[in-house]
Amino acid sequence: MSESLHLWFEYILRFSHLVAGIAWIGSSFYFIWLDSAFVAPETPKRNVDGELFMVHGGFYYQVEKRKIFPGELPKVLHWFKWEATLTWITGFALLIAVYYINGATLLIDQQVMNLTQWQAIGLSLGLATAGWFIYDFIWHRIPSKAFNVVASLLLLVLIIFINTRTFSGRGAFIQTGFMMGSMMLLNVWVRILPGQKKMVEDAQAGKVPDYSFSAKAKIRSVHNTYFIFPVLFIMLSNHYSVIYSHPENALLLILLSVSGAMVRHAMVTNKPVERWTLAPAAIGIAALVFVTAKSYSMAPVTEGEISFEQVQPVFHARCISCHAVKPTDDVIKETPKGVVLENEAQIRQHLPKIMEMTVVAKSMPLGNKTNMTEEERRLVGAWVQSQMSARQ
Ligand code: HEC
Repeated sequence: MSESLHLWFEYILRFSHLVAGIAWIGSSFYFIWLDSAFVAPETPKRNVDGELFMVHGGFYYQVEKRKIFPGELPKVLHWFKWEATLTWITGFALLIAVYYINGATLLIDQQVMNLTQWQAIGLSLGLATAGWFIYDFIWHRIPSKAFNVVASLLLLVLIIFINTRTFSGRGAFIQTGFMMGSMMLLNVWVRILPGQKKMVEDAQAGKVPDYSFSAKAKIRSVHNTYFIFPVLFIMLSNHYSVIYSHPENALLLILLSVSGAMVRHAMVTNKPVERWTLAPAAIGIAALVFVTAKSYSMAPVTEGEISFEQVQPVFHARCISCHAVKPTDDVIKETPKGVVLENEAQIRQHLPKIMEMTVVAKSMPLGNKTNMTEEERRLVGAWVQSQMSARQ
């Protein structure tokens, strides 16, 4: 496939993933909000648990929260499942397009684990499947809620631990997001929809449905809301190599995930005292900033004047096998992100990113395939820093 076709394909996938995700998360937040805003009807109505009035775009809307009952089924019933499904499908397609193809170079880091492309893909899919079964077992089979919450947190830590010790930093982050997103989708299809369907069928058959299905579905639906912020944090953190390439990336990912879940809790709880969870979330995020700031401060300081002639051989030896108009790397055949580093003008276009990726986060050269040394990183760092301060 030509480079521009590939880019467009990826762009359309990314765009669809974003739009479907917005629709899914939007409707999810909307229903959580509805649940917290319902009030009991002024004159009690049969089977109606709560009602509320809204105004939007010049009209007034009345919504009732009710149980379904034989003989009272609406003609048209709207289900919410395609937002979730489309988000997952486009996300999975992106996972293939960005991480699984091209030798899975973005997923693998030979210094973390020496994997082949197919081993990496197999592990990614296998871990996602195993993760779902363990999570589902905990909540489906074990009745103690306190146990389940603790077990789920331990599972999260375990997943992050395994992922960061199997894949590249960036791969571990996306794999964790993939696993969470898959749990969310399976919650919808395996644990929420079948119960709802059964209740509708019973009501159609004239039977009073088993309302315990509602309570069970609600638990998974609430879980999904806890996943939202961690997953979003993860997707965005992919643009920040300083986070995912950090030596403590497992800790950072745990902080990101737990802080995200706590922000969610404060946001949707209808008990103001429970907003205290914002405090640990803020501490978690402050800790993230602190830990990653330290790696920035370790960046080298300028030691005398360094000329471009001194760093050029480094770029030549370590970067241009991939970052050339015609890459010579055995796997990378298209210039990555269009970043060409063959001459001074091209290199100067990317100074801040080069600093971030080569000197601070060390996520470039990819998997250090070209064996860049620490000495070379310091040299490039000193040169880039002098160029950037000269610009200011
Ligand atoms: C083995 C191939 C390979 C080598 C060698 C390599 N890179 Fe990269 N680089 C990549 C790939 C692949 C990407 C795109 C990653 C992505 O899709 O986000 C990339 C992306 C980048 C980016 C763009 C980041 C962004 O998000 O905009 C910069 C800057 C960069 N590399 C700098 C370097 C520098 C500097 C070197 C040499 C010190 C280097 N790379 C060596 C493969 C390589």
